Amino acid sequence: MKTNRTFTMIKPDAVANGHMGAILDQIIKNGFTPVALKYTYLTPELAGKFYEVHKERPFYADLVKFMSSGPIVAAILEKENAVAEFRTLIGATDPSKAEAGTIRQLFAKSIEANAVHGSDSDENAEIEGNFFFSAFERF
Ligand code: TYD
Repeated sequence: MKTNRTFTMIKPDAVANGHMGAILDQIIKNGFTPVALKYTYLTPELAGKFYEVHKERPFYADLVKFMSSGPIVAAILEKENAVAEFRTLIGATDPSKAEAGTIRQLFAKSIEANAVHGSDSDENAEIEGNFFFSAFERF
């Protein structure tokens, strides 16, 4: 199934460091259309649920703490081949390995505080979008 939609978050580090506008600008300039968008906050419980797939990993507790440390921006984005195209735009998980010009290379500080999330499959894009947005909140 190819939905042409992906889900993103601008993470607490990027919002706190004042990069929200620049990151949204990059996203839109690269041809992604937001079909749902909100400025919000993850409680530790919600952050834990969102990243449940990583709950056995050593970084899970710190990740949950970080992701609930401040406001975020959540969005569903539309573009042809959205999931793969967006992963290319954000770059590698570890910003020190991200290609020049990618959002993580430009705005991220560390592998944990890596500025943005991007879904890794069409199926997860759907699940993650539904986690944040009800049917009447999206175009
Ligand atoms: P992952 O799904 O591997 O990366 P991506 O966000 O690029 O799909 O990991 C999810 C998040 O977990 C990642 O964005 C940041 C955090 N993380 C760490 O804090 N330490 C780590 O060693 C890894 C692999 C991820």
